[in-house]
Amino acid sequence: MSSDNKNNSRGSSAPLYAPLEGRVILLGVSGGIAVFKAAGYARNLVRLGARVITVMTANAQNFVTPLTFAALTCQRVHTDTFDDMDAHTIPHISLAREADLMLLLPATANIIAKAANGLADDLLSTLYLAFSGPAVFCPAMNPLMYSHAATRDNMAALLSRGHTVVDAGFGDTACGEKGQGRLAEWEDVREAVIKALTPQNLHGLRVLVTAGPTRESLDPVRFFSNRSSGKMGYAVAGEAMRRGGRVTLVTGPCSLQPPPGVNVINVVSAAEMADAVEKQAIEADIIIMSAAVADYSPAEKSDIKIKKGMDTVTLTMKKTRDILSSVLEKRRPGQIITGFCAETGDLEAKAMEKLERKPVDLLVANDVTEHGAGFDVDTNRVLLIDRDHNQEKLPLLSKEEVAVRILNRIEGFLR
Ligand code: CTP
Repeated sequence: MSSDNKNNSRGSSAPLYAPLEGRVILLGVSGGIAVFKAAGYARNLVRLGARVITVMTANAQNFVTPLTFAALTCQRVHTDTFDDMDAHTIPHISLAREADLMLLLPATANIIAKAANGLADDLLSTLYLAFSGPAVFCPAMNPLMYSHAATRDNMAALLSRGHTVVDAGFGDTACGEKGQGRLAEWEDVREAVIKALTPQNLHGLRVLVTAGPTRESLDPVRFFSNRSSGKMGYAVAGEAMRRGGRVTLVTGPCSLQPPPGVNVINVVSAAEMADAVEKQAIEADIIIMSAAVADYSPAEKSDIKIKKGMDTVTLTMKKTRDILSSVLEKRRPGQIITGFCAETGDLEAKAMEKLERKPVDLLVANDVTEHGAGFDVDTNRVLLIDRDHNQEKLPLLSKEEVAVRILNRIEGFLR
C-alpha cells in the first residue's frame, strides 16, 4: 500500500500533501483480475484529496462488488446507463460534467478498443464519449492480448488523441504467463494522474536537479558523508516532471525510488557530481542544486584498508570543487538557477551572505536544527529569498509541497 501522506501519521502538524484536493476523478473500472488492485488505488486517490466517483462495467462486478469501491471512496458507485434516470439528470451527462479527469483502471483490451473506436454500449464507454477532459488509461491484460497489433493500434489512437496510457508492467500475470500486461504500480498511476491535471508550464524545458549526499572515500571500507536523505531534491525532480519538464536528476547515494520518467545519473563523490553537473548544465534551462555536496574530501585515498595502529590519526582534507559557483560562472543568459542553504541558526543573515557569494535566482534556506526541517524527515520549513532579496517564510510543509512552492517561484521567473 502507498506511503503517501504517512508524514501525518508520525504526528507531524504539517498539512498533508493533497495535490488532488478539490478534484473529481471519474474512475472507470472494467473487468479483469486487476480490479482488486484498483480498489486500493481508489483509496490512495481519496487520500491525495480527490473525490472519486466509480463506474463499473458488468464484467468488473464479477471480480469485486460495487460495495467495495463505495466503501473505499465514500461515494455511490454507478453501474448502469439507466440508473436513477429522471427528467433532470441523465447519468452519463451529469457524471461527465462533474469530473476533472477520467481514469480507466484497469483498462481491458475491450474498453480500450471501444474508446479507440467510439463505441458506446454501456455506461462507461458512453461516459468516455461524453467527457471532454483528460483521460488516463491503465491497461491490464494477458501479455498476448497486450502485444496484439489490434491493442497496440488502439492504444496508439488514444495517445494520438492526447490521452495518457500508463504502460503495463512486466512479470507474472494472473493467467500464469510471463510478460507485459500487469497493471502499472501505484506510483506510476499517481504520477500520470497528477501530471494530467497539472498545467504543463515547463513543457520542453530541460531541468537539472541535484540531490542527496556525496561520499568521500578514505579507503575501500570507509567514507565521509552527511545526513542528507535526498528527499527534498527527489520531490523537486518529481514536481518538475509533473509540469512537463525534461528532468535530469544527478543524485548521490540515496535509498529513494526516483520519480517515474526522470533521467537519473548516479554519482558517489563530489568530484563525480561536479563532472556530471558541469556536462548537463550547458544544456539546462533550469538548474536546482539541492544536493548536500561535501566541502572537503580526504587529500589521500588508500587503496587498501587502513589498519588500526596509532592512538590518534590526523587526516588532511582538501576542498572540493564548488559546483554551484562554477555553474554560476558559466551560466547562459536566461538560465534560472536555484541554490539551497542548510544552516544551523541565524538563518536569515547566513542566507543573505550566501546569496551575495552565490548570486542565484532563488535561494532555499532552512535551519536543520528546527523541528521538522532537518535531514531524513518528510517535512521542511524553508525561507525563500529571490535575486531581488524578497523573502518569503513558508510554514512547516511536506517536502512535496515545498517543491510545489519552489517550482511556482521558478515559473514566475519564466514569465
Ligand atoms: N554546493 C555545491 N558544491 C559544493 C558545496 C555546495 O554546489 N562543493 C551547493 C549546494 O548544492 C547548495 C549551495 O551550494 O545549493 C550551498 O551549499 P551549502 O553547503 O549550504 O553552503 P556552502 O556554499 O558550501 O558554504 P558553507 O558550507 O560555508 O555554508
